[in-house]
Amino acid sequence: MSAIMQGMHTDIGLVNTIVARSALSFIDGEKGVLEYVGYDIDDLARHSTFEETTFLLWNLRLPSRSELADFTAQIRRNYELSEGMWDLIVSLPRDASPMHALRTLTSALSLHDPAADDPSEEANARKSISMLAKMPAFIAGFDRHRKGLDLVRPDEQYSIAENFLYMLTGEKPTERMARAMDICLILHADHGFNASTFASLVTISTLSDMYSAVTTAIGTLKGPLHGGANQGVMLMLNDIDGIENVEQYVMSKLANKERIMGFGHRVYKSYDPRATYLKTFAQGIAEDTGNLELFNLSHEIEAIMDREVGSRGIYPNVDFYSATTYYSLGIDLDLFTPLFAMSRVSGWTAHCLEYLQDNRLIRPRCDYIGPHKQPYSQLSERV
Ligand SMILES: CC(C)(COP(=O)(O)OP(=O)(O)OC[C@H]1O[C@@H](n2cnc3c(N)ncnc32)[C@H](O)[C@@H]1OP(=O)(O)O)[C@@H](O)C(=O)NCCC(=O)NCCS
Repeated sequence: MSAIMQGMHTDIGLVNTIVARSALSFIDGEKGVLEYVGYDIDDLARHSTFEETTFLLWNLRLPSRSELADFTAQIRRNYELSEGMWDLIVSLPRDASPMHALRTLTSALSLHDPAADDPSEEANARKSISMLAKMPAFIAGFDRHRKGLDLVRPDEQYSIAENFLYMLTGEKPTERMARAMDICLILHADHGFNASTFASLVTISTLSDMYSAVTTAIGTLKGPLHGGANQGVMLMLNDIDGIENVEQYVMSKLANKERIMGFGHRVYKSYDPRATYLKTFAQGIAEDTGNLELFNLSHEIEAIMDREVGSRGIYPNVDFYSATTYYSLGIDLDLFTPLFAMSRVSGWTAHCLEYLQDNRLIRPRCDYIGPHKQPYSQLSERV
């Protein structure tokens, strides 16, 4: 029997509960609006960079030119890993999942930081920069290690997006490829109190440390109900044998009450604002890289979904066209979710830094539905 305590209400899954205040991102799911600190996501995707967007999330304002130059330089000085971290990458099992590898490497970073437990604001900012700057090397390094390739060291002349693609492929990316990567990083940087951000806040609210908070978040993002959907989109696109089969594929999925990956959202009941610009950009990059057929396939799926379920508020979400974009960039499917983490680390750390300004332990209650006053019997008396 449930016995709800006085003054308490039950909200399974925290669907209708506001747990904190935040000035970072604003979402209007009905109108399809996403703003970071009041700036429209479409404007940021078109005009900003991931570095500038991160400055915005960490400081609640856009930087001046000199501030951005200093901030960018500070990030780049943090690209390089210690020899211990490079050794750790090449010691990981080659068949490990990249998300497990990323979570392990992020956690291990704390072992090489003598001030890992320093709770000062300055130390937390330093750790945030370090994780943001080094995650690309973790992901690219592990990918090359598992493929038996030599690891490529980061290069401080490159932006975060360029540096990641450079370390992944060993070649300087084209401007268009780097920009596509940068846009994906901006679009995924923050999204209110999503599950992984909330998980990071639960950890930091105990006054644990930033490495632990981000490690918690990576573990949470990994689930297919959260960060794993972009990979599902690509598996679906690979599954469809030509544009002439899209109609039959989608209709039979819908008839069987199966989900079409990359459509629908808990919050957005109109077009996901992150997908708007990405769609146009995905088309360009697909054209450039000879993947237009893939884009046309996606476009056809969207047209059929619009006809069938658009009126029910089921539209493409950010994962739908980011999958085509990542694929066009030549990125392996199981790196799609690590890339999400590489971007969202800016939002996770921003929320932790913000929450610590006025910290309160996050400790909800559960509605106990088990028995009471059970007679304890000695083990010797039990069968
Ligand atoms: C994201 C998602 C979990 C949100 O779900 P939700 O808000 O809990 O909505 P529900 O699961 O209650 O779905 C509501 C209705 O829409 C339908 N629906 C939702 N998303 C759908 C999709 N992608 N394809 C087909 N139908 C879908 C459901 O079948 C349900 O129909 P019903 O009322 O006839 O049972 C869901 O849209 C989904 O599974 N999408 C695919 C995975 C994905 O792309 N995730 C990434 C999100 S960024």
